Amino acid sequence: MPNATNLKFKRILFKVSGEAMMGTKEFGHDLEAIKKICDQIIAAHELGCKIALVVGGGNIFRGISVAATGMERASADYMGMLATCINGLALQNALEKRGMETRMQSAIQMDSICEPYVKRKAARHLEKNRIVIFAAGTGNPFFTTDTAAVLRAIEVKCDVVLKGTQVDGVYSADPKLDKNAVRYEKMKYIDVLKQDLKVMDQTAITLAKDNKLPIIVFSIKGDNALCDVVQGKGKFTIIN
Ligand code: GTP
Repeated sequence: MPNATNLKFKRILFKVSGEAMMGTKEFGHDLEAIKKICDQIIAAHELGCKIALVVGGGNIFRGISVAATGMERASADYMGMLATCINGLALQNALEKRGMETRMQSAIQMDSICEPYVKRKAARHLEKNRIVIFAAGTGNPFFTTDTAAVLRAIEVKCDVVLKGTQVDGVYSADPKLDKNAVRYEKMKYIDVLKQDLKVMDQTAITLAKDNKLPIIVFSIKGDNALCDVVQGKGKFTIIN
């Protein structure tokens, strides 16, 4: 492994949204978009980062929206969790085709497909520089994959949760609608909670706050976005 001393964040949890995996499509997977995500993950790994991933499932199934149309929320959320497993396998396959060592762990046991989530084993995989993919969220309905990202990051002792989005941080207003919107460099957890900013749900922010885990919101669009962030470079908002 390369010397990781120049890294600001050495052990990261990168939240990969389902939407990022569908690229410009309206559903499912775009192999080119997945390749670009893998490029970023591999580049950060080459810098010496230990990398855990939590995958979302919104490109396949979004529990909360379907629940709004009448399905029982718990059932809809379980369907969403299964969608994250499909995405986890797609990501694992794409990374392994590029020669990366990975392990996927699911919060819902599906032993013939991947490992069950075992905190100590996940930590060992990270020590061995394997990329660990956490699927099936927290394994519970009513929790988002953002909350799963914060939870797993705390459990396996990551330095930071990195949330890649379409915009380069948290803004005072929607930058697409308001040209006077300004990007915050830093925010306190309490301000994100008080302003009810939709950057992550309140459960995730509260869990991060209680455990002093920084969250970084950055744009995943640039080719070097993830590498820049782990070195403390580029534009982003840090919530701490
Ligand atoms: P080390 O013991 O640290 O070397 O880890 P390892 O992951 O190489 O060892 P292990 O023998 O636990 O796993 C070997 C392979 O089997 C890996 O690809 C694991 O992901 C996989 N594996 C381990 N447990 C399970 C399981 O419960 N289900 C599935 N599907 N695969 C598993």
